[in-house]
Amino acid sequence: MVAPVMEKWLNDGRYAMVNQRRIKPIEHEQFRGKPLSSQKGQAEAFFLVDENGNWLVVKKFHSNRTLDREYLLKIGSLLPKDPGFICGAESQVLSEDSLVKTKGCYYKRELARWLDGTISMPKVNGYDWTIVADEVREGTIGLDNLQRLTLCRNLTRLVELLEAYHCCHRDLSCGNIFIDIKTWDVYLIDFGSFYHGSLRIPKATTCGTEGYTPPYAWDNGDLRANRTWCEGADRYALSLLNTEFLLVTKGTEATAEGGIFEQSELKHRCGPGITSIINKLGDLYPGAAQLSQMAINSRNCKDCPSPGQWTEFLNTVSSVVTKPVSIAGLSDTYIAQISSILSRSRPAAPLWPAPRLEDMPIRIPRIPVTTCIPPRIVDLPPDPWTKKRTEYRSNLGRSKPW
Ligand SMILES: Nc1ncnc2c1ncn2[C@@H]1O[C@H](COP(=O)(O)OP(=O)(O)O)[C@@H](O)[C@H]1O
Ligand SMILES: [Mg+2]
Repeated sequence: MVAPVMEKWLNDGRYAMVNQRRIKPIEHEQFRGKPLSSQKGQAEAFFLVDENGNWLVVKKFHSNRTLDREYLLKIGSLLPKDPGFICGAESQVLSEDSLVKTKGCYYKRELARWLDGTISMPKVNGYDWTIVADEVREGTIGLDNLQRLTLCRNLTRLVELLEAYHCCHRDLSCGNIFIDIKTWDVYLIDFGSFYHGSLRIPKATTCGTEGYTPPYAWDNGDLRANRTWCEGADRYALSLLNTEFLLVTKGTEATAEGGIFEQSELKHRCGPGITSIINKLGDLYPGAAQLSQMAINSRNCKDCPSPGQWTEFLNTVSSVVTKPVSIAGLSDTYIAQISSILSRSRPAAPLWPAPRLEDMPIRIPRIPVTTCIPPRIVDLPPDPWTKKRTEYRSNLGRSKPW
């Protein structure tokens, strides 16, 4: 879907002032004159840039999707403070007033209207797991055990954090997991199905993504969002995604959305695909196969393995995980990144030369004020000189006056 308002803005070339930030759309590399965007299920995500070169994403929901502004506005404050959730924590719901007429900047009434109800958020680094997994399937990227286990550990940590804050993403899937392939850090995007006990379930919320939806989300053949509107709702997809991280390799076939599980098999908790996956996983990591099977058999969220159980498994293979990364193995661009981070840090304060002694201020010692002691009256012994006073003469031969 091409948004003509975005195209007009792009071709004008000017920044627009949106929420006190000058931003403009990025042009598609292959389709000149078209804004760069990505379209998945329920929205189109446009990529923009601010005047400092920082990329951001503006997500426009399809017109059939009703927007629960109050719900979306609360999500940021409920998320744990961790870079893995930056996309949700720093998102803003735009309104018509977000676009402000400013001298030298682009402004169109229709753009203001179009921006109403969109979500602006920072662009996260890397690629979604769908893309990374496809590269692995094609053999353009190879994942070693360390990288696979690191991905499991990083995703498990994020789910553990969410649980500690009594919330859930509720739509963990290959398209909503971002991976920075330089650091193997994991980020979550797409918080439109977010759960927290303090929120009311929105009228339009997903029940997950095909290939990641638990069988208990169905009630007599109908998908029911309230079946996963509870704590622990990410546990099922966590187990499937960890299984994918450990198994996807060159030639692995993709299912509907880019995962490895068939939704129809998941719904029935069995099938040749599931059997083959669990067997392969069992050969490599029997502990992980047990956890994965436990999720597949689950009857509700609480039946699924917890993030703690996954961490326990990962710790048993931790000798591989904690292998240090050698600096020689890092690409030049990564080293450049580290250098730039370091150069941004505050320089050490200069050391002042010592002053010359004569320039030093003279310190006048202060005599401490002692407490006043009342004089004591004492009797003096008789003066031995009184008798001799008249006889006394100084060395000079004159009488000394007393
Ligand atoms: N914050 C982001 N950073 C980078 N890419 C993003 C971001 N948000 C969305 N995208 C891109 O847009 C696509 C669709 O966004 P998403 O929020 O998952 O929409 P949908 O609700 O349609 O699944 C993603 O797969 C990704 O390619
Ligand atoms: Mg998505």
